Amino acid sequence: MIELIDVGKVYHASDGDHRALEGVNLRIEDGDIFGIIGESGAGKSTLVRLLNLLERPTEGRIIIDGSDITDYQGKELRELRANIGMIFQSFALFQQRSVLQNVTFPLEVRGESKAASAERAHELLRLVSLDDKSSRYPSELSGGQQQRVAIARALANSPHYMLCDEATSALDSRTTVQVLDLLAQINDELGVTMVVITHSLDVARRICNRIAVIDGGHIVEEGFTADVFANPQSDITRELLDWGAPNVKKATAPQTSEGEEVACD
Ligand SMILES: Nc1ncnc2c1ncn2[C@@H]1O[C@H](COP(=O)(O)OP(=O)(O)O)[C@@H](O)[C@H]1O
Ligand SMILES: [Mg+2]
Repeated sequence: MIELIDVGKVYHASDGDHRALEGVNLRIEDGDIFGIIGESGAGKSTLVRLLNLLERPTEGRIIIDGSDITDYQGKELRELRANIGMIFQSFALFQQRSVLQNVTFPLEVRGESKAASAERAHELLRLVSLDDKSSRYPSELSGGQQQRVAIARALANSPHYMLCDEATSALDSRTTVQVLDLLAQINDELGVTMVVITHSLDVARRICNRIAVIDGGHIVEEGFTADVFANPQSDITRELLDWGAPNVKKATAPQTSEGEEVACD
């Protein structure tokens, strides 16, 4: 279980202090696929990066499996990170390493033998249906395939938690569904608790059992996904829902003078 208690984050940037999070209280239970949704700049990435201490909170405490991790350093920090896999919108694969070498990397860092690392990597590549591509390089794969390699790499150390920061935002809708279904399968079969950051209500609706809505660095609403969708409590959630609702006017893509559709993101 992950618990955030009165967590805040202020960035000290060259142009002054920026508050990204304030008074965040959250509880993510084992087995959850927990969605954190909100608009760009709301503080989603900051929040998720606090969970593996890629960023340190400036206030509050973070408790994982009963241990206060907030001040972890050194060996404790390395073990924490091995227990929390992470995937990103940009996939963040090593371009100079093959698919297999991407997945063996975290195992080699931990001191596993080459043979044991390769065996485990092949097992994970079978799980994500990419074992036949193990000698390719990331540039020789589609976006969806690259994200599946990243998922295999994130699972290498058998983590209990996985953080997904806009993991499907660079993918088309069909590939998005495939990757989301793979994440749901990993949650179900391997029991990996997932924290899914997204600006997309469709993503949240498809795989999250609980969601928190974040706006301006504050959690404005939290609950079972179905309840939040059926009975939104905050203006920002209603706005997000309203924007995503089918509507004849909104469903018509804007046209350029040449009559081409303009991509809406
Ligand atoms: N390293 C940083 N230094 C200063 N400000 C930052 C930094 N990272 C993020 N921010 C600011 O914190 C706020 C939240 O950012 P972020 O967590 O990336 O939001 P989201 O992921 O929801 O788009 C934004 O206003 C952003 O500009
Ligand atoms: Mg972000």
